[in-house]
Amino acid sequence: MTVTDTRSSRPVLVTGATGRVGRLVVDQLLAAGVPVRALTRRPDSADLPADVEVMAGDLTAPDTLEGALRGAGAVFLVWTVLAATAPAVIERIASQAGRLVLLSAPHQTPHPFFQQPNRLADLYRYIEQVIAASGVATTIIRPGMFASNTAMWWSSMIKNGDAVRWPYAQAESAPIDERDIAAVAARSLLDDVHVGGDYVLTGPEALTQADQVRIIGAAIGRRIRFAELSPDEFRTATAGQWPAPAVEMLLAAWGASLGHPAFMTSTVAEILGSPPRTFERWAADHTDAFVRNSA
Ligand SMILES: NC(=O)c1ccc[n+]([C@@H]2O[C@H](COP(=O)([O-])OP(=O)(O)OC[C@H]3O[C@@H](n4cnc5c(N)ncnc54)[C@H](OP(=O)(O)O)[C@@H]3O)[C@@H](O)[C@H]2O)c1
Repeated sequence: MTVTDTRSSRPVLVTGATGRVGRLVVDQLLAAGVPVRALTRRPDSADLPADVEVMAGDLTAPDTLEGALRGAGAVFLVWTVLAATAPAVIERIASQAGRLVLLSAPHQTPHPFFQQPNRLADLYRYIEQVIAASGVATTIIRPGMFASNTAMWWSSMIKNGDAVRWPYAQAESAPIDERDIAAVAARSLLDDVHVGGDYVLTGPEALTQADQVRIIGAAIGRRIRFAELSPDEFRTATAGQWPAPAVEMLLAAWGASLGHPAFMTSTVAEILGSPPRTFERWAADHTDAFVRNSA
């Protein structure tokens, strides 16, 4: 990776460092030889590489970020909390680090999948306004559906049976491998050519949800059926386990996207110089998420 930013000798603070994307951003930065600080509410259970400086802090309590931000050259921001503390957190980042990469979503993209009203889009719109007003040098990355959502959603059904009971078999997306999101984030953190960048990131191919189930089945060597649920059956199946707004957000996005090819960009390849990983590759590298423990 070419690093043109002289701030690169200062540590990069990665928030969400124990999460799916942040953990991989940490790996990418370490591989580039950059000092890394990781923010977590629970340092004792963070389980991060030994050469990471693990810092306690909570985005809902901005004063707790002082130590983590002191001397940091850039911040990777994963916003997973309510909006209330965003102005105070972003003001601290702007004054201490002066460089920010935000993990957002493609809520501005004119495709039916991304255009259904939802609370997350409202949250991101607000956070992005606060960041713009702060004047901090920013890159926004906007991945579509993470490939690993399929593990979150289907792992236990596939481990414990031969069918995924799910709505909208024919709804398409272009799932993106989190390693590609993290690679773009790391480039953006380290190279000032990306200041002002606003990047919608997708995987390389449009796949229906039924395709994705079939590909996971092929990766683990079993035939997995897609047993289609109606939206109401899905509401019943997730009741008490999933927040209702998340269920409605997904149903609206899948329903509206039926009959539309998945939205895709070439941005990952343009930034990294190599094509994004396929969903086949992601599934082959994550069979553990779907294979029954043999113990
Ligand atoms: N899933 C998708 O398809 C998709 C698509 C586009 C965008 N996104 C966005 O991606 C983000 C989630 O990223 P992810 O999946 O990598 O995360 P994740 O695996 O859900 O992990 C959440 C992270 O947030 C941290 N966190 C939670 N509350 C916190 C707080 N109060 N203070 C500080 N840190 C806190 C957690 O750290 P500790 O628990 O260690 O403190 C953890 O590292 C969300 O903003 C989501 O909207 C997701």
